[in-house]
Amino acid sequence: MTSHSSTPLALIVLAAGQGTRMNSDLPKVLHRLAGVELVLHALRAGAVLDPALRVVVAGHGAEAVSAVVQAEDPDIAIAIQPERRGTADAVARCADALEGFAGDVLVLYGDTPFVRPETLEAMRAARSQHDIVLLGFRAADPGRYGRLVLRDGRLERIVEFKDATEAERAIDLCNSGVLIADAPTLLRLISRVGCDNAAGEFYLTDVIGLARRDGLSAGAVFCEEAETLGINSRAELAAAEAAFQARRRAEAAEDGVTLVGPETVFFAQDTHIGRDAVVGPHVVFGPGVTVETGAEILAFCHLEGCHVSRGARVGPFARLRPGTELAEDTRVGNFVEIKNAILDEGAKVNHLSYIGDAHVGEAANIGAGTVTCNYDGVSKHRTEIGARAFIGSDTMLVAPVRVGAEAMTGSGSVISQDVPDGALALARAPQVNRAGLARRLMERLRAARAKRGR
Ligand code: UD1
Ligand code: MG
Repeated sequence: MTSHSSTPLALIVLAAGQGTRMNSDLPKVLHRLAGVELVLHALRAGAVLDPALRVVVAGHGAEAVSAVVQAEDPDIAIAIQPERRGTADAVARCADALEGFAGDVLVLYGDTPFVRPETLEAMRAARSQHDIVLLGFRAADPGRYGRLVLRDGRLERIVEFKDATEAERAIDLCNSGVLIADAPTLLRLISRVGCDNAAGEFYLTDVIGLARRDGLSAGAVFCEEAETLGINSRAELAAAEAAFQARRRAEAAEDGVTLVGPETVFFAQDTHIGRDAVVGPHVVFGPGVTVETGAEILAFCHLEGCHVSRGARVGPFARLRPGTELAEDTRVGNFVEIKNAILDEGAKVNHLSYIGDAHVGEAANIGAGTVTCNYDGVSKHRTEIGARAFIGSDTMLVAPVRVGAEAMTGSGSVISQDVPDGALALARAPQVNRAGLARRLMERLRAARAKRGR
């Protein structure tokens, strides 16, 4: 038979369910796991098969789901399922989006975030043996999962828990819901699915039995139960988060990252940390963080949407917000917040500063308490600081403003005009010393207190 690695693939993610058990105004698939909405976990997992077409089926909270999906990639199509009539009906809603598409379709669930790329690869490979390939697993407690009914070792049909006999309920081979089949075949089979069952729903799982009756072959690839974990409640979400974090901490250690207190470090779905990086206790990685080889993140830092180059040192107690780029050997110290700013090689912001919408040149030194005043209440403005500039402590840089290379600002300055290269800018009230005035003032204050009697 032919290899299926070259067959074009369409990815469908089912995400129309309400998720009643979440007890939430937010659609279930928009709850976050590892910093990323559940629906995006499924989309990103499916990306390994390089889909030519992606469709998310939305229903409950479709507008909000659509906004998150389109922000991930505007090319992803949204199919609306107006009424929750079952998983087969949900897939049928993709018919328009699949119009003229001749390849395979992979169906994933929006509430099932842990399917591994290797498993999806194995399913695609198995397509060379079967017309429909399903992902199954052996459940420790099969609960309410659909059961795989085999005959002579071959997959015959799936029976939903609600419709199963006692004997069928005793089967511990279960359906994960993930399946892959040729698009026209799948849509043709789905058009024949009825709703004469215990739930009164159109079950996608019925396509297996229909396919077998047509003489098509169906097969199952099996995975670990943990991979097919579906999220239905806040408790399950929390358990899934804990499972994700435990796995990522172990992976980081295997990748040669030192985690000083592994159980206090939290990763996002897409965190990348290079070998020999050191991460101190109580560090939280939001989405979109890359930390290169040998960088050090000290205790109590919060990072998101940023890039930390090799040899950089961050924290303790630093916050790096989206758009932060730290070049090699930079230093960001305690109580420093950086947003949408680039620090060139060797630049230092060591204490109590806010650097936003800025570019800090190579080896520049930003003194304690410096603030880029980037926001005028309406718009954001940029601050440019030249290479080897020295910004005195407690400088307010009122953007838009530029401080030249090798320029200095005096401590406490409010800089609202550009500073030329090499210049020293002083923008503070000149100091006046009044001889003996301190002592005389003290005497007067003490005398006044004595007169009051306390
Ligand atoms: C489904 C399978 C079951 C399997 C289980 C694994 C069917 C009929 N049953 O059951 O065999 O063991 O998943 O978790 O498929 N959805 C829609 N529109 C709908 C119905 C569902 O988009 O009309 C979406 C849901 O949002 C969810 C997914 O499809 O992401 C699965 O639906 P769910 O109701 O959880 O199916 P189960 O009853 O768990
Ligand atoms: Mg379910």
